[in-house]
Amino acid sequence: MVHLSPGMRSSDPYPFEELDHRKAAALAAGRPIVDFGVGDPREETPAFIREALKGAIDATSSYPRAAGLQELRAAIAAWVERRFDARLDPDVHILPTMGAKEPIFHLAQSLLDPAGGKHLVTVTTPGYTIPERGARFAGGDVARLSLTEPNGFLPDLDAVEASTWDRTAILWLNYPNNPTGATAPLDFLRRAADHSRAHDVLLASDEAYCELFFDGEPPASVLQTGDLTNVLAFHTLSKRSSMTGFRSGFIAGDPELIAAMKALRPSVGVTPQEFVQRASIAAWSDEGHVEELRAVYARKRKLFLDLFASRGVRVAASEATFYLWVVVPTPTTSLDWSLHLLERADVIVAPGSFFGPDGEGYVRMAMVPTIEECERAAEALDGVLGAGV
Ligand SMILES: Cc1ncc(COP(=O)(O)O)c(C=O)c1O
Repeated sequence: MVHLSPGMRSSDPYPFEELDHRKAAALAAGRPIVDFGVGDPREETPAFIREALKGAIDATSSYPRAAGLQELRAAIAAWVERRFDARLDPDVHILPTMGAKEPIFHLAQSLLDPAGGKHLVTVTTPGYTIPERGARFAGGDVARLSLTEPNGFLPDLDAVEASTWDRTAILWLNYPNNPTGATAPLDFLRRAADHSRAHDVLLASDEAYCELFFDGEPPASVLQTGDLTNVLAFHTLSKRSSMTGFRSGFIAGDPELIAAMKALRPSVGVTPQEFVQRASIAAWSDEGHVEELRAVYARKRKLFLDLFASRGVRVAASEATFYLWVVVPTPTTSLDWSLHLLERADVIVAPGSFFGPDGEGYVRMAMVPTIEECERAAEALDGVLGAGV
């Protein structure tokens, strides 16, 4: 028998595997399933980005350098300045990564220090599971802060005890939030950064969805808070440019940490391939395709918001991202309602309980199927909801 590490042993199956299982069974039975369960966009990667990738494949290939291409870091710094009005030095503040998931998972390995009293990773719940998984693999413990409707889906940082802050190595925030679609005001991010600095905690801000917004102000970033000490932002092209398969993103923030990461990451080998980096330069340098993408998601969003409003089903938060956080309208669990929708409407949604106990009472709809599929699903859902749920 293989002796597995505690991180591996304690790991629950990735919840979506279960959903994939059920979807496979329904598809095998020949049913026209529309899948809103997993947040993998089905939109095409814009042609100019694909062309940039093709044009960058050279006859020889070498290991990409951990710092990434200077041109890519410059393109990222230019985007950050346009988008957040924040000036970063491409050489000291920015590091290209293989999307956001990879550095999110790895971060705890660089920061946890049980012997030094810093063994805790604080996350928000319901939430994206990767920060927690990364913490467990690094041998750390996890503290959870609830995101609920009464607290506006913002954790109550003042309610966290000083002893918890002192043991915390990393505070994870994710706005715009997966799964709730909630956003956080800049002032809240500023307070979180101040709290973190005061307790020698790193504020890790996962901003993977910051470009998928609809009404009102574009979502805020920790990069706008003025002081990057003890602050790290995580960005990706996966959602902004429909490039999940490319694996390209960056981290930006505290120069000391960026320098430490630059030194560590050659051992891990996680810098994107140079042709992906060249395609990424094209993607970060263009806003037109992002505006078009927002319009596509806005259309899908309106379709479902109108449908749910007409059937008296409430949608909470959901100000940004391509997620809708839908309140389960009957006295049943989120899993049971999801199964009901799968059986009656051929629609897959993710039960809120998959994202932690505070997710019970909601389901998450990822508006990633094509607009035609969304229209078909909306019609089927309308029929089911009209029949008394
Ligand atoms: C909250 C959040 N952060 C980060 C990611 C990772 O994105 P990627 O690794 O594709 O950049 C995801 C992906 O679904 C996500 O939902």
